[in-house]
Amino acid sequence: MSDLKKIKNEYLLKLKSKLNLSDINQIKSELFGKNGLVSSQFKKIGTIAQSDRKKFASDLNIIKDELQNIISSKINEIENSVINEKLEKEQIDVTLPERPFVRGKIHPVSQTIDEISSIFSEIGFSVEEGPDVENEYNNFTALNTPDNHPARDMHDTFYLDEKKQRLLRTHTSPVQIRTMLKDRPPFKIIAPGRTYRSDSDQTHAPMFHQVEGLHIDKNINMSHLKGCLNYFIKEFFEVKKIKMRFRPSHFPFTEPSAEVDIGYEIKDGKIIIGEGDKWLEILGCGMVHPNVLRNVKVDPTKFQGYAFGIGIDRLAMLKYGINDLRAFFECDYRWLNHFGFDPLDVPTNYRGLSR
Ligand code: PHE
Repeated sequence: MSDLKKIKNEYLLKLKSKLNLSDINQIKSELFGKNGLVSSQFKKIGTIAQSDRKKFASDLNIIKDELQNIISSKINEIENSVINEKLEKEQIDVTLPERPFVRGKIHPVSQTIDEISSIFSEIGFSVEEGPDVENEYNNFTALNTPDNHPARDMHDTFYLDEKKQRLLRTHTSPVQIRTMLKDRPPFKIIAPGRTYRSDSDQTHAPMFHQVEGLHIDKNINMSHLKGCLNYFIKEFFEVKKIKMRFRPSHFPFTEPSAEVDIGYEIKDGKIIIGEGDKWLEILGCGMVHPNVLRNVKVDPTKFQGYAFGIGIDRLAMLKYGINDLRAFFECDYRWLNHFGFDPLDVPTNYRGLSR
């Protein structure tokens, strides 16, 4: 019997026995591996006498195809039986009750930040962020806040080292510095985030939220500031008219500086924004001080503009009728379920961020 026939008969027999995947792989490499029986026969073709060569090659190809076909159908068979076995064993009981499904809620502060960001993005502001742990320079010095300024006092500021070089930022204003240091004017940004001061009562928490605004360009003046804030407050509270007043104030990093109050009244135990004769302070603002611009290498004779800092928590309390600031940060699920927002509800004035 020729070698080819012997190989064929031997392996046909082997392939008839009960085999698992690794047996088959073993057979495959015995036949078709680098030095496998069939592979070596192919190498021999060149040495066969010319007259027999054609027939030898054709027989060899037929045997190769036959064996390969059997091997691949065996592999298929085994794989199918593994799947079938699994299907038999792992039945799904569709009558079982479902697992409880809990959908989280969006915290009112997060919701308010989203709303604020979308309102400002409508008029061309982009959103910047800065770290909660700041250095003394960005939080105070660069913002034209002298060494002896009361805001630096231990009572207000959480310092993180003895030398008072690292601290928890006391406002979002250091993001003004970070933004202006990394780019060239014009700047038109808002920066929402957490801020910290050593203070705690019904309207103050040691951690609270602000949103900073900064608009620097050629020819920006105080009327732009007024227009921008007026637009924002109307959009935020969803009212057509708003009573707003600018009260002279002082911040080291703006000149002139102002605090802004909005008018409100209480009707049937509810706060109504934009009417009445009561005033509520909601933000600090002003024209950016030339010294601040010089500190970030912006020429104040060419560029100027305004900045503002809004207390976010206060706005959220007013809009959503929450009367104790501390509840925001107590992580009470019942409270969150009541005041939180459905994650699939898009804010009413959300029209997509500009960035
Ligand atoms: N950073 C000020 C504060 O926290 C607010 C402010 C920001 C005032 C920007 C003027 C300009 O009180």
